[in-house]
Amino acid sequence: MCGIIGYTGKKEATDILIDALELLEYRGYDSAGIALSDEAGGEPRLLKRAGRVKDLRELCAESDVSGKCGIGHTRWATHGGVCDENAHPHRFGRVTIIHNGIIENYRELIEKYGLEHKLCSQTDSEIVAAVLNRFYEKDPYAAIRKTVLKLKGTFALAIMFDDIPGKIFAVRNVSPIVAASTEDGAILSSDVAAIAPFTSQYFVVPEFHVVCLSEDGIEMFDLSGDKARIDWLTVDWDVSRSDKGGYPFYMEKEIMEQPQVIQDTVMPRIKDGRPDFSAEGIPDSILSECKRICVIACGTAMHAGLVGKSLIQAMIGIHVDVVMASEFMYNDPVVDKETLVIAISQSGETIDTLEALKFARKCGSPSISIVNVKGASIARASEYVIYTCAGPEIAVASTKAYTTQLAVLYLLTARMAVARGLWDDGKLSAYMEELVRVPKVMEEVLARKDEIHHIADTMLNARDVFMIGRGLDYSILLEGSLKLKEVSYIHSEAYASGELKHGTIALITEETPVIAVVTQDKLKSKELSNIKEVQSRGAKVILLIKGEERLEQEKIWNRIFRLPVMADEFMVMPASIVLQLIAYYVSADKGLDVDKPRNLAKVVTVE
Ligand code: AGP
Repeated sequence: MCGIIGYTGKKEATDILIDALELLEYRGYDSAGIALSDEAGGEPRLLKRAGRVKDLRELCAESDVSGKCGIGHTRWATHGGVCDENAHPHRFGRVTIIHNGIIENYRELIEKYGLEHKLCSQTDSEIVAAVLNRFYEKDPYAAIRKTVLKLKGTFALAIMFDDIPGKIFAVRNVSPIVAASTEDGAILSSDVAAIAPFTSQYFVVPEFHVVCLSEDGIEMFDLSGDKARIDWLTVDWDVSRSDKGGYPFYMEKEIMEQPQVIQDTVMPRIKDGRPDFSAEGIPDSILSECKRICVIACGTAMHAGLVGKSLIQAMIGIHVDVVMASEFMYNDPVVDKETLVIAISQSGETIDTLEALKFARKCGSPSISIVNVKGASIARASEYVIYTCAGPEIAVASTKAYTTQLAVLYLLTARMAVARGLWDDGKLSAYMEELVRVPKVMEEVLARKDEIHHIADTMLNARDVFMIGRGLDYSILLEGSLKLKEVSYIHSEAYASGELKHGTIALITEETPVIAVVTQDKLKSKELSNIKEVQSRGAKVILLIKGEERLEQEKIWNRIFRLPVMADEFMVMPASIVLQLIAYYVSADKGLDVDKPRNLAKVVTVE
């Protein structure tokens, strides 16, 4: 959480920083700030305020600031409320910093260094500037080394010293920093998206390494002061994909991109009609020898894992657990060398998932991660990585990352079947043909977006919404429900439809819209009976059903959306698009900030 940017070079830095902060705002939007200095050095000019980056932009315009070296921050508040004083950058003595992460021992440090009444904010971050200032005696590397060794917790820090003009230092533990040389200087950020407009070559700063950015480029040292080698990576997405492309919100754009990104994720991994992970170096043995699978992930990524569980259990016949990464460590996890751990994460930086993965690896589990952001911490912490090719996902609500994660899980299931010799050629080719058909089917649904918009209209004034289904349909709805609540602020619950009558049906009234999903042939009659139970209590039911088959008493449905037909296990793809669009239209029509829902951040790097 929190977005970080730093630039030093020949250009004026203000606009570079503010433009980047706008791109990074999805990481947190409680406050924003920059610090700028010029060639002469000295105390940098600090501009910061609670609110959005656009407010900071106005402040900068009013203040007429300039400088060719600067750092900027957009905050998701953890310690200390949302106010100007708690906004970053923070300054102490001759040191100015921005911080992403949590300094767990900040109270101890305040006491240890007698800083109780000397700090201006309530944050855990300002203390870092104070400790750096205390240790700083002309040698920035020594000050950084000494400070870092005192810190407990996670941090990505960008630092400016008053008497070292034109240079930005950075160091990190867990929280990410990427850096790059530009035509006229150097840049660093928490995200590749912010540096991609400047260069296609970048690197991930390794943990506990210090980088120094100047007009002449970048140097990197380890904590013992030895020069370290930089491993360069190439940005693999088109920068134009980071803009809204004419859509009012990123969420709509990202929903519409799904046919293409599914194709990009799937097609390179099919060779001669068979799923193929040779480019990732994944040996079949890892898929054939495991006795169990444990998926660890959070939020939407965990919902993708639940679909993966249904697929793998049904088609491969091995047990799959899907564990909320934030709970993993607290339930005495039983994972061992026979348990394949699959970590799923769009950002690749979710700390709960990262910590759970590291724990599982210590227990000897083989691991594969499914990650969208190249070089992210989770990708680097796992034995093998499969990148989803969703491109930058900017809206806080995850859409295209989810369906590309599903696409990878479909491929993995098929490869597992091949590795275990479970399917004959006919079964494999029918499955692969269906997978290849997904983008086209998604396009058919997207072409009907006006119809979905009308469905969304019926929910605009709802206070509560229930979503009901069984089996795979229930998994689809868990994600659909998360989407609706996070962007529309309508309370929504996905419920296994057979479980409703064990208590929750008491909440169903005429005022409660119910979305029912019926896509699994073997569950259809039971699901339709469960739907009748809520209709009898007055609920207005919106039905998403596979195919054109006529239903009894069509008039009793509030709305029916007929989903294009795919094999049952693939119906999650068209159904998800409908649920994503419903959430999107409800939010947009309520006039909400669809891409930046309140209280949320795109990348969750605090436990
Ligand atoms: C989904 O719309 C979310 N914003 C959230 O649940 C997200 O999926 C979760 O925080 C996990 O993030 P990750 O995929 O980057 O690990």
